[in-house]
Amino acid sequence: MTSNDSRVIRAELLSFDADPGEGDTPAEGSVRHIEDGALWLEDGRIHAIDDYVRLAPTLPADIEVIDHRGKLIMPGFIDSHVHYVQLEIMASYGRQLLDWLNEYTFPEECAFAQRERADVISNAFLDEMLRVGTTTAQVFCSSHPTSVEAFFSACRQRDLRMLAGKVLMDRNAPEALCDDTHGGIHDTERLIGNWHGTARLGYSLTPRFAPTSTREQLDATGGLLRNDPSLWLQTHLSENPGELDWVAELFPKSRDYLEVYEQSDLVGPRSTFAHGIHLDQGMRRRLADRGANLAFCPSSNLFLGSGLFNRQAAREVGLNVTYASDVGGGTDLSGLATLKAAYQVGQLRGQPLTAWQGLYGLTLGNARALSLDGQVGRLAPAMEADFVVLDPDGSPLMARRHARCKTLGERLFALMMLGDDRNVLETWAGGRRQHVRE
Ligand code: GUN
Ligand code: ZN
Repeated sequence: MTSNDSRVIRAELLSFDADPGEGDTPAEGSVRHIEDGALWLEDGRIHAIDDYVRLAPTLPADIEVIDHRGKLIMPGFIDSHVHYVQLEIMASYGRQLLDWLNEYTFPEECAFAQRERADVISNAFLDEMLRVGTTTAQVFCSSHPTSVEAFFSACRQRDLRMLAGKVLMDRNAPEALCDDTHGGIHDTERLIGNWHGTARLGYSLTPRFAPTSTREQLDATGGLLRNDPSLWLQTHLSENPGELDWVAELFPKSRDYLEVYEQSDLVGPRSTFAHGIHLDQGMRRRLADRGANLAFCPSSNLFLGSGLFNRQAAREVGLNVTYASDVGGGTDLSGLATLKAAYQVGQLRGQPLTAWQGLYGLTLGNARALSLDGQVGRLAPAMEADFVVLDPDGSPLMARRHARCKTLGERLFALMMLGDDRNVLETWAGGRRQHVRE
């Protein structure tokens, strides 16, 4: 007899075991590709992965086998930086970061004091993430604790692996968003107690960015991280020239933007800094030395005119780069669309992104940089069963392009450049099919 939660999926399988490097062909041993493969799921985890013909004789006689031949299964995509509360202000026209925050973002986030609104948008956001094949994300809520309660509740209900946190901000924003400095820290401690480590959820300390926090609030956040190194931390860094000038004005005792965070002990191996466009090599080295990661948010950087991220400069000093949508600054939740924008930014910098490197980044690369690679990011025994079933023929045009591809590398590149939710046939998380394309 097999358990109720046991099944096998037969399909083409692709997963990374290591960084494939920057070459046109992936580094030896970095890619696991099985043309006619079998993924055996048991109780929410991957039990085995192999060639179908090798695994078939070992299967229990009554096990369900789902036939997805012609489809490509990859680990669920990971988004290292996104704001669920900004879902409905995506594509709001207007200038650059600081104006965009004041005109659209801050007014929108005020509404998340209401639990009902937070519940509705949490669920809409998760539906959209699953529609594009994303199963894990590191998420900004608003500064209202109820926005975090709503989001984590919705994630727990769906058994998703997610990181999230209450935005900490105690100045330079509308009153309805600003914390009382110590009250915001107490709220954070309470949310950590309620949610960190429950089900598949982790808490990410979330000071918005230097301009909206006092030194006192940043210091208290650093204290929380020192007390519990199992917490994550997410914030923004060096996104826009106007922002840099403002930070220099607000923190005259810090020699640069990064030092504002260093002085409060916010830079560590579980810290994600979104953007990091306007940095020098010394700052990149300081981030790398602490094991932090930069979230590259290409569609957001293009939309807000923030600048062209220098991926190679980060790579040269061994600084982890993760891939992120940054919705609502970003214009697309899809991980494939993020890679397409990353490729385009790279082209303008003479740093093209191969499909190998991009898809590694979206899966195992992001998982490693977020210290989640013990759970997700690979198709391998004992890993949590979070994966996406991709249909390379997701549209008539995609089918035409696909028919012309001769190699796996070509197919993956076309998918990265042309793919969207039409290519996501199914998304599975926690061993359950949670999205099926209509
Ligand atoms: N910097 C501070 N807050 C934000 C935000 O909400 N979005 C982006 N892109 N940058 C920020
Ligand atoms: Zn952001």
